[in-house]
Amino acid sequence: MTYKKTLLITGGAGFIGSHVVRHFVKKYPEYKIVNLDKLTYAGNLLNLIDVEPEENYMFERGDITDKDYLKGLFGEHQFDGVIHLAAESHVDRSISSPDDFVQTNIVGTVNLIAACLSIWGSDFDGKLFYQVSTDEVYGSLGDDGYFTESTPYDPKSPYSASKASADHLVRAYSHTFKIPVILSNCSNNYGPFQFPEKLIPLMINNIKKEIPLPVYGDGSNVRDWLWVEDHVKAIDLIFHEGKTRETYNIGGNSEWKNIDLVMEICRIMDEKLNRPQNFSQGLIQFVEDRKGHDKRYAINTQKIETQLGWKAEMSFSKGLEKTIDWYLENTDWLEKVTSGAYQEYYQEHYKI
Ligand code: NAD
Ligand code: TYD
Repeated sequence: MTYKKTLLITGGAGFIGSHVVRHFVKKYPEYKIVNLDKLTYAGNLLNLIDVEPEENYMFERGDITDKDYLKGLFGEHQFDGVIHLAAESHVDRSISSPDDFVQTNIVGTVNLIAACLSIWGSDFDGKLFYQVSTDEVYGSLGDDGYFTESTPYDPKSPYSASKASADHLVRAYSHTFKIPVILSNCSNNYGPFQFPEKLIPLMINNIKKEIPLPVYGDGSNVRDWLWVEDHVKAIDLIFHEGKTRETYNIGGNSEWKNIDLVMEICRIMDEKLNRPQNFSQGLIQFVEDRKGHDKRYAINTQKIETQLGWKAEMSFSKGLEKTIDWYLENTDWLEKVTSGAYQEYYQEHYKI
């Protein structure tokens, strides 16, 4: 079978990456999709069981920090495009052990774009390197205001600093070598297959198990939440219709204070699990704040809405309920990913 394009998706066994892989494999049978993932603690092939049999899908286990490995892979596949999601993605881990963040997020990104350059030479017709980034590169907002595409970078955590470095390097490669790139910076995603170290699935898992719900500081930090499949649709649109060398911000226009969100998850789960009203709220424990905890993230989504016609489709209330249902139904998945190394991380980090 000859394919119209061969695309490399990195980090496709992770949370967002698995949704991106599923979407591209199923929507574009004329594309060959190669999923490159190291399968760290955050990557799991269980996330892609339904995609595995598809003819236009291929999994490659590998590490983007390994240049020789990338050379072989790029030589073999002659990719037309890369959608780069592989990363170390958890802020708390970046505070306790930043090395992997520097290696994967910074060095790994340069290795990938350099590998593109080595096979594309100076013929960039139909070629694209897409860097999937985060709104956290813009730093932290006070009570007012929104991040726009021209907000200066001001990262505050080792995670966001590593993503900001990678974004700068991608833009520098584009400027220096004329390689076509595109970037998007998105707010907090939620939905099925998110690793339960992140707020929403961690709370769902703990409520289910009736164990303490650790809320950092006074719970007043604010995050903007986007249904993961809305992010995927934005990535598809940007990949196909975005202007090269541009950046697009993506957000859900759905801001929640952490404590309000945790209470809402408690309310919904008490109802679903037939527990007495307010039962799970009693599990909330305010714990030591995250070091350097960013206060608020919020996105101005005007550019992607007006220029590309994207809009978040899922309401937060419906998306949250779907997410809770998914975690309650997929107990096997949840048990597998929370065994072993997760327990060690949990004990070490929360000490509760
Ligand atoms: P994740 O942690 O769930 O998945 C990351 C994936 O990358 C895993 O499958 C892991 O095995 C893989 N990986 C890690 N190091 C690797 C390496 N050296 N080589 C190859 N693969 C490696 O992350 P996620 O939440 O799905 O985030 C995906 C991307 O989207 C990241 O770049 C992140 O910065 C960005 N992003 C995430 C969010 C969010 O809310 N989760 C928001 C905006 C942007
Ligand atoms: P998280 O899901 O780690 O995403 P990010 O820090 O990248 O935004 O955290 C979301 C918010 O929830 C953040 O303000 C930190 C807070 N939080 C807690 O209060 N308790 C927790 O156990 C976790 C993991 C996060």
